[in-house]
Amino acid sequence: MPGRRSAGKGEQGVDVKVPDAEAMQALGERLAGLVRAGDLIVLTGDLGAGKTTFTQGLGEGLGIRGPVTSPTFVIARVHPSLVGGPGLVHVDAYRLGGFAELDDLDLDASLEESVTVVEWGEGLAEGLAEDRLEMIISRKAEEGDEERVVRIDGIGGRWAGLADDLR
Ligand SMILES: Nc1ncnc2c1ncn2[C@@H]1O[C@H](COP(=O)(O)OP(=O)(O)O)[C@@H](O)[C@H]1O
Ligand SMILES: [Mg+2]
Repeated sequence: MPGRRSAGKGEQGVDVKVPDAEAMQALGERLAGLVRAGDLIVLTGDLGAGKTTFTQGLGEGLGIRGPVTSPTFVIARVHPSLVGGPGLVHVDAYRLGGFAELDDLDLDASLEESVTVVEWGEGLAEGLAEDRLEMIISRKAEEGDEERVVRIDGIGGRWAGLADDLR
């Protein structure tokens, strides 16, 4: 996987080129091999960027009970593992008013046993965990261009080896 190191303050980061939706799913499946129970992934990107597509691949890789869909009517959905591993907690923070509301969901118990993915979570979900993986999905300005660039930053000691793991 192509990527480059960032000169961050204790942060580990890479940029990954994602040519199409299938590649985004594959990135999710790849990340499934790196995460464990208690991990938090914060996904940022505009509508249609590919946050849910990524989460579907992650869920596939984790072997959770699907389907993973955009949580339109529920703010958070818990997908149990079908393979005795961590489950997936999928949160759509878009409609949340702020961190207090996310806290109100009382996800703490589930979070410990699951990998948690928050869509649209920038500036919101960070309070859930000091260590987290932040992914910012950007697309080209041209209409119809399927390529995305995913910036992946590992924050905290948990992700100290991220750049090497993703190589
Ligand atoms: N490179 C790509 N990565 C992710 N999705 C892509 C890509 N190219 C095209 N798509 C399409 O864009 C849409 C992304 O939708 P979705 O994952 O629901 O976005 P979000 O959750 O960010 O709103 C899907 O229809 C997907 O097939
Ligand atoms: Mg979505």
